[in-house]
Amino acid sequence: MENTVVIGAQWGDEGKAKITDLLARQADIIIRYQGGCNAGHTVVADNKTFKFHLIPSGILYKDKICMIGAGTVIYPEVLKEEIENLKAENVSLDGLKISPLASVTMPYHIDIDGRSESCAANKIGTTKRGIGPTYTDKISRHGLKVEDLFDEEFLSRKLDDILTVKNKELVHIYGLEPYTKEKVFEICKKYAQILKPYVCYDWQMLFHNALKNNKSILFEGAQGVMLDIDWGTYPYVTSSNPVAGGACTGSGFGPSVPKNIIGVSKAYITRVGEGPFVTELTDETGDKIRNIGHEFGTTTGRPRRTGWFDAVVAKYSVLVSGLTSMAITKIDVFDTFDEIKVCVAYKDKRDGSVYSWYPTNVNIHKYLEPVYEIHKGWKQDLTGMKSYDELPENAKKYLERLEELIGVKISIISVGPDREQTIFKS
Ligand code: GDP
Ligand code: IMO
Ligand code: MG
Repeated sequence: MENTVVIGAQWGDEGKAKITDLLARQADIIIRYQGGCNAGHTVVADNKTFKFHLIPSGILYKDKICMIGAGTVIYPEVLKEEIENLKAENVSLDGLKISPLASVTMPYHIDIDGRSESCAANKIGTTKRGIGPTYTDKISRHGLKVEDLFDEEFLSRKLDDILTVKNKELVHIYGLEPYTKEKVFEICKKYAQILKPYVCYDWQMLFHNALKNNKSILFEGAQGVMLDIDWGTYPYVTSSNPVAGGACTGSGFGPSVPKNIIGVSKAYITRVGEGPFVTELTDETGDKIRNIGHEFGTTTGRPRRTGWFDAVVAKYSVLVSGLTSMAITKIDVFDTFDEIKVCVAYKDKRDGSVYSWYPTNVNIHKYLEPVYEIHKGWKQDLTGMKSYDELPENAKKYLERLEELIGVKISIISVGPDREQTIFKS
């Protein structure tokens, strides 16, 4: 397989992990490049359901290198739990590697995330996993990298610097308890023990040899384009770069390495947390999609907001991530629907102007309404279908229209959560 990036093309939870797991079969190295345990990635294999937050979705195959990359933020407590759960299922962790350059989420990051969400007038609806505060510290150069945890003398000096600022922030801005250096030092020692077996100091040699020997590299994105810190619906976004460009900055492989970029979209859209969502359905159709699609958060259990497929969003994702193809998941959720809507543009209620490109100024989204075209349902069970030819005419028409609207081919169609419930289209 050519080096491939898998990203979410909507607001997350598109079924990326299912697609990553499928493609991982043909990959040698799978690398997660951004985000942290805000991600909830579900893989259904051999009648078992696995949920990953940090570990790449390729871990279920033996003999693969699965790396948590430099652009990620790692909360060791969640990683420990994930490792223990996989061990209990007899999944080998021999291939798990952690970049020494990844950032560490500390308990005070989680304290701050929780407090700023509970007292903010304008909530983001974060996962409260400390993601924003960890990335904030990384950017302001007060963060801890994985490799910092293993040099006690350096760590001691660094903690003096960090805690001088951090305790002021905790106490005076957030009204939270300060942390003593002794306590943070002990936490760091505990985290070092959790991470130690997996830290990959020879990653440069590994990457060099992988390129030299034409090994196949699969880049696994978390979240989705519309949650990107630069390209998403700011400020209702996460704090990293899920766009395909993030695959390079977050992994250490340059932009000439990936050849395919697959965007994953559901046949509809979901969103968790706050923020604009033009095609949102707050009626019984929205409830129907949520119930049939089991649209409840993998990480937080929150009900996901639901809405019709938005081709304006899809076209935007194609552009800002340079998608070479799209994977459409959960098309089976529409099996009982009489009709299916697709948003092709937005109309401004104030003056009737029409947007066919995504308006990045989210302040005007409250004035926008979707312009829909309506497709006939297929009223047939797709979940057992194995080839494109088997699909009913109306399903094919729907998919072909999506291709036309978004401007790239649909290379994968997912008709159920299981590995086997997948149609590859050439
Ligand atoms: P991710 O974060 O993008 O990896 O997606 P999640 O795992 O959070 O959510 C996707 C959910 O949809 C999971 O429960 C998957 O098992 C499920 N899923 C994936 N593809 C399909 C599909 O084609 N049909 C159905 N019915 N479920 C799917
Ligand atoms: P996967 O990888 C869906 C959302 C949160 C919130 C916003 C910011 O499973 O697709 P954060 O905790 O990151 O600061 O929250 O981003 N969010 C996700 N929504 N899927 C995810 O990950 C998400 N990760 C974060 O709900 O709106
Ligand atoms: Mg998810």
